[in-house]
Amino acid sequence: MRKVAFWVVAIAAVAGVLASTVPASGPADEEAVPIFGIKIPPGYRDWKLISVAHEEGNLNDIRAILGNDVAIKAYREGKLPFPEGTVIARIAWDYVPSEENNKVFGRAQSFVPGPAPDWYLQFMVKDSKKYAATGGWGYAQFNKDGKPADEAKLKTCFPCHEPIKARDFVFTRYAP
Ligand code: HEC
Repeated sequence: MRKVAFWVVAIAAVAGVLASTVPASGPADEEAVPIFGIKIPPGYRDWKLISVAHEEGNLNDIRAILGNDVAIKAYREGKLPFPEGTVIARIAWDYVPSEENNKVFGRAQSFVPGPAPDWYLQFMVKDSKKYAATGGWGYAQFNKDGKPADEAKLKTCFPCHEPIKARDFVFTRYAP
């Protein structure tokens, strides 16, 4: 009887540890985008910087473009088309004035990243076979809660990237 009690306690303890570590392990349970089936790549926030950009108009955001190791190597070697396994991430934040910084400057000149907009996160994933119909790239967009964009949205990606076919459908150039 004691042995049984030991095992009950031991199994419960192991199950408890497993249950408590699952959420911390990242986006495994997150939803994939429609059409392309892409999930948020784990660790993307630690990728290296390719460049930054600022959009005006309705978007009015500031953005960072990051690449996984395959992307960074290809960029630095000037390699085109991008190799299989390339992933490019684009993070956007609202473009907001910084009162705190402006106080120090003595005038309005500082703008910084603010809250995340609906188009917070985008990815382009290179897989020539899987995504042959869209120039060899899969496209993904997620809002700040990790919720994927809908099918209609994802259908707009490739047609708009098509004009930059000569650079393998990627607009961003490497900022040294
Ligand atoms: C209206 C045209 C347009 C649409 C629609 C569009 N893009 Fe882009 N995308 C651009 C342009 C232009 C840039 C470069 C922006 C800049 O640097 O200011 C860009 C940049 C990117 C980048 C960074 C790499 C690169 O090509 O510069 C990613 C990743 C990206 N877009 C993904 C997506 C995804 C995913 C979608 C669909 C949800 C999408 N885009 C829809 C025009 C578009």
